[in-house]
Amino acid sequence: MKILVATEKPFAKTATDEMKSIAQIAGCQLVLLEKYTDVAQFYATVEEVEGLIVRSDKVTKDVIANAKNLKIVVRAGAGFDNLNLAACTQKGIVAMNTPGQNSNAVAELAIGMMIFMARNTFAGGTGSELKGKTLGIQAYGNVGRLVGLLAKAFGMNVLAFDPFLKKEDIEKDGVAVVESLEELYKKSNFISLHIPANEKTKKSINYDLLKLMPKGAFLVNTARKEVVNEEDIVKIMSEREDFNYATDIAPDNLAVLTEKFGNRVFATPKKMGAETAEANINAGLAAVNQVIGYLKDGIDKFRVN
Ligand code: 3PG
Repeated sequence: MKILVATEKPFAKTATDEMKSIAQIAGCQLVLLEKYTDVAQFYATVEEVEGLIVRSDKVTKDVIANAKNLKIVVRAGAGFDNLNLAACTQKGIVAMNTPGQNSNAVAELAIGMMIFMARNTFAGGTGSELKGKTLGIQAYGNVGRLVGLLAKAFGMNVLAFDPFLKKEDIEKDGVAVVESLEELYKKSNFISLHIPANEKTKKSINYDLLKLMPKGAFLVNTARKEVVNEEDIVKIMSEREDFNYATDIAPDNLAVLTEKFGNRVFATPKKMGAETAEANINAGLAAVNQVIGYLKDGIDKFRVN
């Protein structure tokens, strides 16, 4: 059986080497398609494989149409907004993610971005400290929870809003739960976003919420660029000189933001949240084990369709 790893942004070699040997032991062949520049290369290589592993690579209707033997696709990571689930389901293809495997890397980046922004992007001048400030975590999943635990070690007051979780489950981490999103924004000097991108959340981080933040506001987005209303970022930052924005993946209007607001804005050139050797190994190995587990034994834990 063949498993394709199609990664425009490749895993570390240590990860793919281990993935290859796991596949080999299971009697499968791991095929790598890395740094591809044309989607036609993806269409051609996906044709003959039974299993597919991707990162943020878009598994579109066309990819699925070309995948004649595909039985399972695993998004090595948390967010699966890049998978066309309807197309997978229609063809009887199982789709999974690998929740939690790269969370620590993303959480560390979120904290790193908070410090970087609070210290004027290390460009000089008097900055501020995290200690004693309030952090609002929007969505308390695997990443949000780790950000909260790290922030507490920095002496931050940590609040969270997550309508999908029980209050007690958050509170047992020593994190205070707020009743509404508005309350979260009103009370937080820093907001860290951990919501998925879907029809409900796209552009949901808007002016009406952002304007509620107290003076000296920092918005940190290690979730998805789509969840933030980019025009509203321009609006709030034009109105408020105390408002700062850091995002892990460049917004479409980055040139405008940088020109207008200088180092009050920071964007990574390529999504970096999960770019650690540890996260690559954790997510990559989990993905290959999940593919094999499904192909050989029909195990469909972490199925999302
Ligand atoms: C995720 O959803 O797991 C992260 O955004 C990581 O994405 P990446 O694998 O493309 O770096």
